[in-house]
Amino acid sequence: MPLQQLLSQIIIDDTSHARFLNTLSFMENSGARKISASEHPETVSLMILKHAAEEHRHAYYLKKQLDKITPGQCTTYARESLIAPIESCSYLNRLDVLTSRYLKKEMGLAGPELRFAAYLFVTYAIELRADELYPLYQQELSKIQHKVTVKSIILEEAGHLEEMILQLEDFSADWQSHAAVIIDIEHRLFTKWIAAMQKAITE
Ligand SMILES: [Fe+2]
Ligand SMILES: [Fe+2]
Repeated sequence: MPLQQLLSQIIIDDTSHARFLNTLSFMENSGARKISASEHPETVSLMILKHAAEEHRHAYYLKKQLDKITPGQCTTYARESLIAPIESCSYLNRLDVLTSRYLKKEMGLAGPELRFAAYLFVTYAIELRADELYPLYQQELSKIQHKVTVKSIILEEAGHLEEMILQLEDFSADWQSHAAVIIDIEHRLFTKWIAAMQKAITE
């Protein structure tokens, strides 16, 4: 099922939609926590602080949007309040593990350098995906004039992608060849996530 069709089916059912929205909030929060965890205690830049703050805001904002569906629903990130919980959790975790493994082997990095490089490549791949997913989601929401909106997130994600490219260019002249490998890994994990969501809404 194409992503757009899946999204259109999710949003017409309030229970699925609430779980999806809560899952996006959960993933934004996991992403924000990963950024914070990868920060160097002394040399962390203004750009990274801004990025972490905005991802935390996305988690909060999406959670608040739940009030527009059914107030009091999906108040926690417990499994039953998420859509495709196993694949949703493993999307970020596997991407992180596989990226770190690749960078360690191919670039010989370790410790804080490896954590920073993993932050750059993982986030780059996620921002590419966010730039596809949120506009499609908004398009489907707008079609049925749904009260939920993610317009403010779309703007910030586009900024993040530009910032990640700037940081990657600074990090390595050869960043694009490594990024291609990471994008490939992300694509596989995203496909699994989509398939699991599709299964969840048809069960
Ligand atoms: Fe975000
Ligand atoms: Fe972002």
